[in-house]
Amino acid sequence: MKTFIVGISGETGFRLARLLKQRGDEVDGLYRRAEQGERLRSIGVAGTHGDLVRIDEAKLAAHFSGSDVIVFTAGAGESGSDAMIDAIDGDGVSKSIVAARRAGVKRFILVSVFPEAGRQQGWGESFEHYMAVKKRADVELSRTELDWVILRPSSLNNESGVGTISLGPAEFHTDIRRDDVAATIAELIHTPALRRRILELTEGAMPIERAVRMQIEG
Ligand SMILES: NC(=O)c1ccc[n+]([C@@H]2O[C@H](COP(=O)([O-])OP(=O)(O)OC[C@H]3O[C@@H](n4cnc5c(N)ncnc54)[C@H](OP(=O)(O)O)[C@@H]3O)[C@@H](O)[C@H]2O)c1
Repeated sequence: MKTFIVGISGETGFRLARLLKQRGDEVDGLYRRAEQGERLRSIGVAGTHGDLVRIDEAKLAAHFSGSDVIVFTAGAGESGSDAMIDAIDGDGVSKSIVAARRAGVKRFILVSVFPEAGRQQGWGESFEHYMAVKKRADVELSRTELDWVILRPSSLNNESGVGTISLGPAEFHTDIRRDDVAATIAELIHTPALRRRILELTEGAMPIERAVRMQIEG
């Protein structure tokens, strides 16, 4: 199994890369800075140097070629810049969808967000913009013929993973550990029968493998 992670140097992307390597998978992903490349090599990932803002679809498709699945876990929500949110969370997803098609990679897992995250928190215009762009990306991917999965995690934190979650088409928005998000994505990668689904992910008591399997069984 070979996974290409867009956002591999991010908090969730790096955890996912490490987990997949531990499972014996092949992993690649785009990173922007030399020190990120060094960190990736420390877990056995060569990585691909490139910038999602500048790269064109043909070049991205060449990088995706030979992968079984694309995971998009990049995000510029923390930047507070509408232009960067458009470039990463919006155009970055569009570009990756086109590139996946060109490269013949059918499976595409998009890390999105609960539509009700941050409601009535007064987090400002930029956050509202981020939410609108994330939703547009969900709509765009869900209208493709790809074998997509849209995963909407609750508010992320860096506490150590517990290995249990709550996963389904509709969950209550609370918190989730990035370790557990990464482990859930790894399980989704290894469950190709689960496709064309929007899944919300939050803290919970069900072991991750079982929670994912239950989504196939319905
Ligand atoms: N934070 C939350 O509570 C929350 C909740 C639900 C969903 N999400 C979504 O979950 C995903 C993962 O979140 P995270 O907090 O784990 O990720 P993160 O650590 O913020 O990493 C984001 C990734 O996106 C890349 N990126 C950010 N700004 C960029 C820019 N201006 N140009 C190019 N690349 C850029 C980063 O590259 P560099 O390392 O080079 O900067 C990094 O690889 C994101 O899609 C996020 O929107 C977040």
